[in-house]
Amino acid sequence: MKGKSLKDYFANARKEKWALAQFNVSCAEQLQGVVEAGVQARSPLLVGTSEGDAGFFTPSLAVNLVAFWKKETDLPIFLNFDHGKSYEVLERAALAGYDALHFDGSRFPLEENITIAKRVVEMARKHHISVVEGEFSEVPGGHSDLHNQEAPVLTDQDYTDSVVAAEFMKKSGVDTLAVMVGTLHGIFKTTQPLNIKRLQEIALRGIQFLVLHGGSGTPEQELKEAIQEGVVKVNVSTDLRVAFTNALKESMRENPAEIAPYNLLPKSVAAVKQVVLTWIGICGSVNKI
Ligand code: G3H
Ligand code: ZN
Repeated sequence: MKGKSLKDYFANARKEKWALAQFNVSCAEQLQGVVEAGVQARSPLLVGTSEGDAGFFTPSLAVNLVAFWKKETDLPIFLNFDHGKSYEVLERAALAGYDALHFDGSRFPLEENITIAKRVVEMARKHHISVVEGEFSEVPGGHSDLHNQEAPVLTDQDYTDSVVAAEFMKKSGVDTLAVMVGTLHGIFKTTQPLNIKRLQEIALRGIQFLVLHGGSGTPEQELKEAIQEGVVKVNVSTDLRVAFTNALKESMRENPAEIAPYNLLPKSVAAVKQVVLTWIGICGSVNKI
């Protein structure tokens, strides 16, 4: 499928019932671990950076490092700006050269969310960006390792409403929809089953490309079930952060006198690579380049 757009990959994933994991990175070494896994698994790669990362791992740095790895490996690697909360931040990402944009309008009133999402779509098309992701039902949690915390208790109102979803897609023109069906941002002590029935209802509304946020900590079997029901993208961040930092702590523990990053960081790259290989296996994107 080389030379295809990200949207082409989503269409193929939907047809063949697999998904692309989006690996959120905030440093060159995490990205290197993702790329090494993609090469080994012969998987297309989707990398994400969020507003929180952008102060340190700037959009320009992310775009240029991804361009380097695309040239180096000849892999299809796409870059998504994740959880962009304003038109302006997403326009800066588009100007920097991102392949996809996620407008997270979940904190806006629905009509305002739709209005901004429409503007983002128009802007994206001008920049030949094939995928704009929309969101109106927030995925709770916190992008961190919350092993010691109970998951928030969810009520029916927390889940994405399939009727609103259909209206949102029609009016906003976004290409993919982040849905809330029970995944949570971050890893909690407990999990609760995904609401697969709600996912089916949303998919039955003709929404072709569904996105799960909060991949880390979600039971593998539930993710596979969700992919069978139309999820084509699963976002993952905490798993990579935990792998990276635990390996770095181990390196420093084992070599307390070591001060050279080139001696301390390879373990973190390898740890991220292993986590990414696992996720590529769960999502089924092996040999899909
Ligand atoms: O947008 C990023 C993902 O939703 C991260 O979720 O940290 O639970 O894997 P996670
Ligand atoms: Zn997310």
